[in-house]
Amino acid sequence: MEPDTVDRRLPRHLAIIMDGNGRWAKKRGLPRYAGHPAGVEAVRGVVEACVEMRIPILTLFAFSSENWRRPQKEVNLIMDLFMRSLKKEIRRLDRNQVRLRVIGDRDAFSARLQKQIEEAERLTQNNVGLLLQVAANYGGRWDITQAAKRLAERVQAGELTAGQIDEGVMSKHLSFPGLPEPDLFIRTGGEKRISNFLLWQCAYTELYFTDQLWPDFNRQALEAAFLDFTRRQRRFGRTGEQVQGKTAEAS
Ligand code: IPE
Ligand code: IPE
Ligand code: MG
Repeated sequence: MEPDTVDRRLPRHLAIIMDGNGRWAKKRGLPRYAGHPAGVEAVRGVVEACVEMRIPILTLFAFSSENWRRPQKEVNLIMDLFMRSLKKEIRRLDRNQVRLRVIGDRDAFSARLQKQIEEAERLTQNNVGLLLQVAANYGGRWDITQAAKRLAERVQAGELTAGQIDEGVMSKHLSFPGLPEPDLFIRTGGEKRISNFLLWQCAYTELYFTDQLWPDFNRQALEAAFLDFTRRQRRFGRTGEQVQGKTAEAS
């Protein structure tokens, strides 16, 4: 296959639910929270693979709005790991032209972590390579609700009428306005659910589930997901014939 053909078939925006860290650790007789540092290693590998394959956008689900329900000890450990990983990885990310952005409700994070996030975002803001979005304290319902709230405020302020709110306006108030929606969604760890990840933005995303646990997910696993993705026919409501006709016309 020519490189050009390969590139066109890769997703522009990849979203991943990185699940299975706890089970990975337990399988090894370790406490479940020991799986999270191993998960960070897998993140490094997948980010590097995406950089090399020139994937434009990668959105990773790192911590959900509901993950606060976990034992305090595990939550603390995850927060600490988030802080340490940001510090440790940011220079390498910057060297690789990665632009980092954290999506989610950051108000719940410690002032130190919030500052660390802001610094990392500022340092990498002009980079032109992979846009790496880390969803932390993120929930799809939170995202839609905060958009609704901001829209209501704008209507109240007289900047907008209720009648002007359409899907385009709504999208502009969600967490990453102006970006293409995910083409491919991957969930590791065997569960087949969305767990309140990108609800609005995944309306037409191709879903891919694998039993591999997140710390085991590597470049080869990513390539297998991409290969599966190339076999999908994305119809967006049209018929298969229409889509094929369009492809024939375009080529
Ligand atoms: C995903 O792995 C990481 C986070 C939710 C932070 P889990 O910790 O959910 O791993 P399992 O699902 O219990 O194996
Ligand atoms: C989803 O995983 C959230 C992240 C990977 C950050 P969970 O392990 O929290 O999902 P559920 O609870 O099994 O649905
Ligand atoms: Mg899980």
